[in-house]
Amino acid sequence: MADQGKFIFPRWANYLLPLIVLGAIGGALYVPALFAVGASAKSMAVGYQPQQPVPYSHAVHAGRLGIDCRYCHTTVETSAFAALPPTQVCMNCHTGIKPDSPNLKPIMDSWKSGLPMQWVRVHRLPDYVYFNHSAHVSHGVGCASCHGRVDHMDEVFQDQSLSMGWCLECHREPEQHLRPRDQVTNMAYTKTPEEQLVIGRKLKAEYGIHDVAYMTSCYTCHR
Ligand code: HEC
Ligand code: HEC
Ligand code: HEC
Ligand code: HEC
Ligand code: HEC
Repeated sequence: MADQGKFIFPRWANYLLPLIVLGAIGGALYVPALFAVGASAKSMAVGYQPQQPVPYSHAVHAGRLGIDCRYCHTTVETSAFAALPPTQVCMNCHTGIKPDSPNLKPIMDSWKSGLPMQWVRVHRLPDYVYFNHSAHVSHGVGCASCHGRVDHMDEVFQDQSLSMGWCLECHREPEQHLRPRDQVTNMAYTKTPEEQLVIGRKLKAEYGIHDVAYMTSCYTCHR
C-alpha cells in the first residue's frame, strides 16, 4: 500500500492532541488550540479524488461485473485495515481479459517485476484517530454509509466528511444505520426511515452494540 497519499497534518500536529484535550478540560486553551489544528484540516475534504496509476473503475468491476468488495478488500471484515488487492488478484482475470490494453500496462509491469502497484490513498484520518474496519463491518455498518455509492464511481472519491462530528453523529444513534451483516457490501440496500428504526433497534440489541457513553468517549477514538 502506497504511503505517499495524503499527509493532512504535519507530523508535529500529532503531539498536539494531548495538549488540546487537556485544553478542552481546562477550558481557556480550548478555542484557540482547536482553531489552530482545525484550520489545517481543510485538505481532508469531501470530493477528494486523486488520480490513480491505472484507470481501474469500481463502476465496471463492482458495479457492472458485480464483484463483491471482499473479493479484493479481503481483510475488511477481520482487521482494522481494508487491504488493497495485490496484482495477482487483477491477473486472475486479466491474463485473459484485455492483457494487451495500454490501460493495463502498469499492472503487467508490476506482474513481471514483482513490485506492488503504487495506488494513491484516497481516505486518510489523522494519525491520532483510531479507526477499525472490522468493528464496523462485523456489526452491520455498510460500506456505503461511509464511502457512498462506490459501485457508481469510475474513480473513487471521498464521499463523506470523516470529521469527528460526522463519526459522533452515528455513534450517538447507530440504530439509524445498522443493517443485517449479510447486507454490508450491498450498495443498493435502502430502507425507509420508519423501517430503518425498527430494524436498527432490533440489530442494536442483537449485536450488543455499546451504550452511548462508550461510543462517544474520547478514548474510543483517541487511544
Ligand atoms: C476487483 C477489485 C476490487 C473490487 C471488487 C473492489 N475494489 Fe475497492 N479498490 C480496488 C483498488 C485496486 C483500489 C485502489 C485504487 C483506487 O482507489 O481506485 C480500491 C480502492 C477503494 C477505496 C479507496 C481506498 C483509499 O485509498 O482510501 C474504497 C473506499 C474502496 N475501494 C471501496 C470498495 C467497495 C465499497 C467495494 C464494493 C462495492 C470495492 N471497493 C470493490 C479494488 C477493488
Ligand atoms: C473477475 C474478473 C476481473 C478482475 C478480478 C479484475 N478485472 Fe479488470 N476487467 C474485467 C473485465 C471483464 C473488464 C472488461 C470490461 C469491458 O468489457 O469493458 C475489465 C476491464 C479493466 C480495465 C479497462 C481495460 C480497457 O482497456 O478497457 C482496467 C484498467 C482494469 N480492468 C483493471 C483491473 C485491475 C487494476 C484489477 C485488479 C485490482 C482488475 N481489473 C481486476 C474483469 C476483471
Ligand atoms: C464507519 C465508516 C466506514 C465503513 C463502514 C467502511 N469504511 Fe472504509 N474507510 C473508512 C475510513 C475512515 C477510512 C480511512 C482510514 C484511515 O485513514 O485510517 C477508510 C479506508 C478504506 C480503505 C483504504 C485502506 C484503509 O483501510 O485505510 C479501503 C480500501 C476501504 N476503506 C474499503 C471499505 C470497504 C470495502 C468497506 C465495506 C466492506 C468499508 N471500507 C467500510 C470508513 C469506513
Ligand atoms: C454509520 C455509523 C458509524 C460511523 C459513521 C462511524 N462509526 Fe464507529 N462504530 C459504529 C458502530 C455501530 C460500532 C460498533 C460498536 C460496538 O462494537 O459496540 C462502531 C465502533 C467503532 C470503534 C470500535 C469501538 C470498540 O472499542 O469496539 C471505533 C474505534 C470507531 N467506531 C471509530 C469511528 C471513527 C473514528 C469514525 C469516524 C471516522 C466512526 N467510527 C464512524 C458506527 C459508526
Ligand atoms: C467516534 C470517534 C471520536 C470520538 C468519540 C472523539 N473523537 Fe475527537 N476526532 C475524531 C476524528 C475522526 C478527528 C479528526 C477529524 C477532524 O478533525 O474532525 C478528531 C479530532 C479531534 C481533535 C482535533 C481538532 C479538530 O477538530 O480538528 C480534538 C482536539 C479531539 N478530536 C478531541 C476529542 C475529545 C476531547 C473527545 C471526547 C470528548 C473526542 N475527541 C472524541 C473522532 C472522535
